[in-house]
Amino acid sequence: MDIKGDMLRKLKGRRDGYSLDRAFYIDPDYYGQDLESIWYKDWLFIGHDCEIPRAGNYFTVQVGDYPVVIVRDRQGTIRALHNSCRHRGSRVCSQHKGASAKLVCPYHQWTYELDGTLLFARQMGEDFDKAAHSLKPIHCETVGGYIFINLSEKPMDFGPFRDMVAPYLAPHRLGETKVAFESTIIEKGNWKLVWENNRECYHCAANHPELCRTYPEAPSATGVQGAKDDPVIAAHWAKCEATGLPSEFRMSESGQFRSARMPLIDDAESYTMSGARAVRRQLSADVSQKHIGTLLLFHYPSTWNHVLADHAITFRVLPLGPELTQVTTKWLVNKDAVEGVDYDLEELTHVWTETNDQDRQIVEENAFGIRSPAYQPGPYSPDHEGGVMQFVEWYCNFMEQRLQGDAMPLFRVA
Ligand code: FES
Ligand SMILES: [Fe+2]
Repeated sequence: MDIKGDMLRKLKGRRDGYSLDRAFYIDPDYYGQDLESIWYKDWLFIGHDCEIPRAGNYFTVQVGDYPVVIVRDRQGTIRALHNSCRHRGSRVCSQHKGASAKLVCPYHQWTYELDGTLLFARQMGEDFDKAAHSLKPIHCETVGGYIFINLSEKPMDFGPFRDMVAPYLAPHRLGETKVAFESTIIEKGNWKLVWENNRECYHCAANHPELCRTYPEAPSATGVQGAKDDPVIAAHWAKCEATGLPSEFRMSESGQFRSARMPLIDDAESYTMSGARAVRRQLSADVSQKHIGTLLLFHYPSTWNHVLADHAITFRVLPLGPELTQVTTKWLVNKDAVEGVDYDLEELTHVWTETNDQDRQIVEENAFGIRSPAYQPGPYSPDHEGGVMQFVEWYCNFMEQRLQGDAMPLFRVA
C-alpha cells in the first residue's frame, strides 16, 4: 500500500477545524511517516546544559530508532553522537547518564574520545583506518540553557529559533541552574494527542484543580490568538517589558515555535498550592521583578516550558510507538538552592506531578475512544481550542510539504 499517497490524500481532504482521521493517531505506518518526516527532520529539545556541567558528563536518549549520546567534550563543547559503535554496532553508552574520561564500547572496548574520535581499537590489522571509524556526529545546538539536536544530515537553520528565544531566556540564566527533580511518564497515546491536550485549557477546570489555582484557563494565555487584545495580558507585557523582560507574544511564521510571558491568577508567583514561591532563592540573579508570571515557550514537536521567578519546568516529548509517548519533566532551580533549606521538594513538584498524571489519564482516555471504529473527527471549539487547531495545522502543513518533497517552509519570525 502507498502509505505516503494515502496520508497525503487524507491531509488534503481534511476538514479544517476538526480533529484528525483515526489513522493519524493509531496506524503504525502513519507513525513511521511521522518519524521520517518530523522527528528525524526537526530540531528536538533533548536536555539542558546544566545536566552535563563537566567534561565527560553524558546522558543518553532514544529518538525513534536512533540511540543518541549527548556529551560534554574536553574543550567544554556539548556534542551529540550516534550511540552505535563503529565496530559492530553495539550501543557504546548504555546508562541513562554518567561520567567517563573516554567513551568505551562494552563489547570489544573500542575507545572513543569525548568528541567521538576513535582513539583505540585492539588488533585490527595494519591497514585499519582509525580516522574513518569515529562515532557519527549529530547536529547539536544550544540556546539559553537548552540543548537541541537534529538527526537530519542537512538540518533547517537553527538561527531563527535562537534569535527569537535567546532574549526571552537570557535573563533567566537557565544554563546556571540545576535539575532539582526529574520525572518520566509514559502516556498510552499518540504523540499528537499529547500535544493537542497541551495546546488548550478547555479541559483545565474539570481536570486540574491544583494547576487552576494559579494558571489562567483563558484561551488567550494557552492558545495563539487574542493575547494582545486581552487587557490583563497586555498590561502584564507592558509592565514586564518596561523592566527589561521580553514578554510579548512572538511566533515563527511556520507556527513551529512561540514564546510569550503570561500573568498568573491574582499575581501568583509560582505553581504551588498557595501561589507563593516554592524556592526561596531566586532562579536568576538578573530577575528581581515581582509578579513576572510564566514565560511560555513551545517548540514542536518536542517541548513546552514554563519559566517562573523561582523555578522553571521543562517538558520533553518523545514518541515511543504509534500509541505510546514519553513525557519527561524537569524542575530547574538556582544551582545554589539547597533542598530542605531553600525549597521543599514535595511543594516544588506537587502541582505539575498531579497535572501530568491528570493529563496522562486524559490522553489515554482520548486514545481509547479514538481506537473505536465508530470514531470520526470532531470539531474543535473556536473559542477555546485555537491552539490545538494551530498545532494540527502546523503538523498537516509540514507533513504535506515533506511527503511531497516540497522546499521547506519559511522560518521567519512574525
Ligand atoms: S561492537 Fe563496539 S567494540 Fe565491538
Ligand atoms: Fe492539562
